[in-house]
Amino acid sequence: MEKRFWKKEADRLWREAEKHWIGRKQDKNYRDFLVREHLLEALINEPARHLNFHRPELYVDIGCGDGSETQYLHAYLGQPDTYGFDINETLIGNANDDKIIFEAGNSRNLIRKHKLRGKADLVTTLFVLHDTPDYLEVVGAASDTLRKGGTYINVMVHPQFSKLMLKKHKEIISRDEDTTFCMYPIVEEDRTFYLPHFHRSLGTYLDNIEKQGFYLQKIIGMQPLPHDLKEAIKWHRSPFYEHETNVYWPEISQVPSSVLMQYIKA
Ligand SMILES: C[S@@+](CC[C@H](N)C(=O)[O-])C[C@H]1O[C@@H](n2cnc3c(N)ncnc32)[C@H](O)[C@@H]1O
Repeated sequence: MEKRFWKKEADRLWREAEKHWIGRKQDKNYRDFLVREHLLEALINEPARHLNFHRPELYVDIGCGDGSETQYLHAYLGQPDTYGFDINETLIGNANDDKIIFEAGNSRNLIRKHKLRGKADLVTTLFVLHDTPDYLEVVGAASDTLRKGGTYINVMVHPQFSKLMLKKHKEIISRDEDTTFCMYPIVEEDRTFYLPHFHRSLGTYLDNIEKQGFYLQKIIGMQPLPHDLKEAIKWHRSPFYEHETNVYWPEISQVPSSVLMQYIKA
């Protein structure tokens, strides 16, 4: 009974969230100024230095949405063969690049259709897992398409920030033990928050992703200083921190609310 309620509620929320993503207005600044430059630099350079990761020849972006991050990475990586898959036809309908194959549908089916099984050097899921009820299906597709030793990178909102947001909206509580509604820690132009997600604890992701055939190489997340945390809770503020407060991982000093997990396909 409860499960059914949860599903209905989740579907309703997702339908609302969808229109924000289609416009892609709310996170433009977040991505352009806070995520891309620093996060992707760490993401690309780090494997290159430590894992002998050469320029990928085949890159697959699962849950690519309108494809802007796919295009960004495709260019950054020196234009490898690139595929972007998404379950949502409307969103991917906005993706347009004649050098990238964008296609709507179930990722596993598309991997089969394009004969990509065991072929990709790099797979990304960018801000996808916290947006999907069945995140392990997405991770499983990533695992299917990677070659042995290939790199899987997942970026998402750090669950610790969702907890903060829940304090503000504590009336919205998940009926599913393993799933938490979260507030996207981005203030929109009208100062409201974006509410679309199915988040889990970091431990849940860490435990279950490896079971899909990966070794964890690295996790980059941010820990706010105690003072900042207290203030954010007190004012119910989006926990964006100043540049210099990230004393732990300077390379992501301007992407405070994201967490990056980097895996190698076993
Ligand atoms: C928040 S958007 C992020 C889009 C894009 N990766 C980006 O960084 O802008 C999440 C995307 O995940 C897609 N998605 C959700 N569940 C999916 C699934 N099971 N398979 C493929 N895509 C999925 C949604 O349709 C949506 O486009």
